[in-house]
Amino acid sequence: MDRLKDKIAVITGGTSGIGLATARLFQAEGAHVVVAGRNRDALDRAASELGGEATAIQADVSRIEDVDRLMHAAGTTHGGIDVLFVNAGIAPFVAVEDVTEEHFDEVIGVNLKGAFFSVQRALPYLNEGASVILTSSVVNTMGLPMASVYSASKAAVRSLARSLSAALADRRIRVNVLSPGLIETPLLGKTGLPKEMLEGFTEQIVERAPVGRVGRPEEMASVALFLASDASSYVVGSEFTADGGLTQV
Ligand SMILES: NC(=O)c1ccc[n+]([C@@H]2O[C@H](COP(=O)([O-])OP(=O)(O)OC[C@H]3O[C@@H](n4cnc5c(N)ncnc54)[C@H](OP(=O)(O)O)[C@@H]3O)[C@@H](O)[C@H]2O)c1
Repeated sequence: MDRLKDKIAVITGGTSGIGLATARLFQAEGAHVVVAGRNRDALDRAASELGGEATAIQADVSRIEDVDRLMHAAGTTHGGIDVLFVNAGIAPFVAVEDVTEEHFDEVIGVNLKGAFFSVQRALPYLNEGASVILTSSVVNTMGLPMASVYSASKAAVRSLARSLSAALADRRIRVNVLSPGLIETPLLGKTGLPKEMLEGFTEQIVERAPVGRVGRPEEMASVALFLASDASSYVVGSEFTADGGLTQV
């Protein structure tokens, strides 16, 4: 299929999980994909899996100079950016009493500051009619005791799609949100939760969600593809929740 034929798609956090699954799908749909992340080995693995057509760029989205370099490289190599998937994120779980200033700054720095400046610094390169997709999370409307800063960062990301859509309407740039439920990715191993707590948390979610299982990264990629492609041309400032019914049923 050629739903993104000859489009230039930049995916932050494109070296793992949801971002990498999306890179594979976008590429299969004809896009030239630029993936970004911090870890050199993960970048090399993603680059070799995606092959010579893809570009992998080392960048930490919490550092504006890195974001500038990423967007400049992506935007000037192939003639602008058509799809920007702002997906890089971290989700360390910490009890409210144990949240430090460092934890707060780190989570907000990657998930919110990183998301905002990824869009802002891409502006000179975004083509007319570009699609911007921001990864939020179902936690933007839920209360998880160990994820206060994370959830707040993702609620702010949801808000950004509205104001950025308003600001960019004259360039026909659409900004929408993908909010995953619990998805089987390496992120779950990086929450810092002890194994048994993580298993208990996963069990609770699986019991509550009508589908009775966690989601797959490919199931997020297909929603991202819809938002990236012209199939969603009348969708602006919206949120697509893909959580197996967890927050809806
Ligand atoms: N998995 C879930 O259940 C779930 C649920 C709701 C929302 N989400 C959201 O979905 C997005 C993708 O998560 P995932 O589950 O696919 O996790 P993942 O497998 O851990 O992938 C996260 C990606 O983000 C990159 N990243 C993290 N910090 C970064 C930074 N400062 N600068 C640049 N890249 C950075 C990682 O690469 P490096 O570490 O090498 O930088 C990696 O490529 C995140 O925004 C997450 O919050 C996930």
